[in-house]
Amino acid sequence: MKKAIILVGSARNGNSLYLAQRIADNTKADVVQIASKNISMCTGCLECDETKKCVFADDMVELISDIVKSNAVIIISPTRWGLMSGDVKLFIDRLNPIATTEELVGKELITVAIGQSEQGDSSIQHALDSLAFFGESAGMELIGSFPIYECLSNEDLVLNASVADEVTGNIIKLLETEK
Ligand SMILES: Cc1cc2nc3c(=O)[nH]c(=O)nc-3n(C[C@H](O)[C@H](O)[C@H](O)COP(=O)(O)O)c2cc1C
Repeated sequence: MKKAIILVGSARNGNSLYLAQRIADNTKADVVQIASKNISMCTGCLECDETKKCVFADDMVELISDIVKSNAVIIISPTRWGLMSGDVKLFIDRLNPIATTEELVGKELITVAIGQSEQGDSSIQHALDSLAFFGESAGMELIGSFPIYECLSNEDLVLNASVADEVTGNIIKLLETEK
């Protein structure tokens, strides 16, 4: 089983956290709810391009170390206005120090975007596309990308057990498959 870290892009006890916990229950993956961490917003100072370190010594120091030790990164984001959530974007911006050192290159990336729209609506796919763009830019290998539709209230995915089971099962298989 690959060593994985699951990043949850919603602050509420909702669909994203539920899915993350389902995956973690069946794997040794660590779950990080981004909003529960102390993470300053990237100012764009670009000091990290020179020093390979961020000017902020906040919770990202430990999280970056956890990412470096992982083989696979799983991002579970609510879809917000057709994009990843602000929580996920905040986290991704702060990965710049290890993007510049190429420590993300070759890591496997699995993305999930959850939203209220019905199948066929483009907003959830658009959120996944923005996550894929990040992964590609950082040299990561996107091995799985899952849209989850028709989830508005925080318990909608709990009620839609077959979808939760299917996505969890597919992600576990990806983590079990050797590179
Ligand atoms: C500000 C905001 C924007 C949203 N935009 C979209 C959207 O573009 N497409 C969509 O399908 N759902 C959208 N939603 C619905 C959320 O994606 C949905 O409630 C999701 O289940 C939230 O995940 P969570 O339970 O993990 O918080 C939006 C919700 C909020 C609060």
